[in-house]
Amino acid sequence: MNILITGANGLLGQYLVRDLSKAGYTITATGRGHKRLPEYAEAHYTYIPLDITNKAEVEQVVEAARPDVIVHAAAMTQPDACELNKEECRKTNVLATSYLAAAAAKTGSTIIYLSTDFVFDGKEGPYKEDDIPAPVNYYGASKLEAEEIIKQSNTRWAIVRTVLVYGNILSGTRSNVVTWVKDNLEQRKNIKVVDDQIRTPTYVEDLSKSILLIIQHNAEGIYHISGKEVLTPYQMAVQVADYFSLDKALMEKVNAATFSQPAQRPLKTGFVITKAEKELGFAPVGFTEGIRRMFPQITH
Ligand SMILES: NC(=O)c1ccc[n+]([C@@H]2O[C@H](COP(=O)([O-])OP(=O)(O)OC[C@H]3O[C@@H](n4cnc5c(N)ncnc54)[C@H](OP(=O)(O)O)[C@@H]3O)[C@@H](O)[C@H]2O)c1
Repeated sequence: MNILITGANGLLGQYLVRDLSKAGYTITATGRGHKRLPEYAEAHYTYIPLDITNKAEVEQVVEAARPDVIVHAAAMTQPDACELNKEECRKTNVLATSYLAAAAAKTGSTIIYLSTDFVFDGKEGPYKEDDIPAPVNYYGASKLEAEEIIKQSNTRWAIVRTVLVYGNILSGTRSNVVTWVKDNLEQRKNIKVVDDQIRTPTYVEDLSKSILLIIQHNAEGIYHISGKEVLTPYQMAVQVADYFSLDKALMEKVNAATFSQPAQRPLKTGFVITKAEKELGFAPVGFTEGIRRMFPQITH
């Protein structure tokens, strides 16, 4: 089976290239600019530069690869950047998705689209797949508009919504909730951590594995994929501090309203993942186990 991945240089994309090629699929990894991915002795993939906002390039790359499945992970992913540059966000998240959906329909490819908990307003999380979306910022609105394009496409589709992804990027550097807390506390810096938002943080290897499960099960429709533990960022920070035996006195509990960011954040999100557990056998790790997998060299 041939699989084409967009956003292959990103956090999830790097894991998808590794995990789907190791599972034996033929992988076309596409990303913006040059390849920023490790090579694997036991698995092979082909890298092709692809800017998904270039319609002709999208058509040509998809037509040449003729994939059975397209995993569309590329996006403008920073909510504040989307809020401040709506046009670029719309081009990347909405228009580019329409180019990919049209190309997938032509080649008869299934499209698996990565979406977000930010499609919800955060008034009543954790959310199930059939809860009604109502984004509170432009990033969420752009991802929801792209979901609609995927649903209307003339091809098989699945939408994988996920929440606050953490894990070590395989090549390059990228901060996440775990490394942010660890790095600051190690340098004995005081940090303010939000304690009135809730999320179900997602370990990146679980997210990648869920996409493999969706492909193996030929699954269609919307899936909520995340960890199971409902935590505030402060509770996550406590687990990080405990894991590395760092000083929790440096952490101050604050409300989300303390921060004035360009993009509003939904307060209570996180997912109910029963559907993925039952239909796919999805079984994510807990947050402390996720930290242990990121830093297996630390022994207690
Ligand atoms: N991370 C989270 O907490 C989270 C939560 C919910 C949903 N999601 C969704 O999950 C998916 C994967 O996210 P991630 O964490 O892997 O994000 P990421 O690390 O930011 O990766 C996104 C990738 O998309 C690429 N990209 C952006 N514009 C592009 C363009 N015009 N053409 C081609 N590639 C382009 C970026 O390229 P560059 O590397 O060149 O910038 C980047 O490699 C996204 O759809 C995101 O919306 C993520």
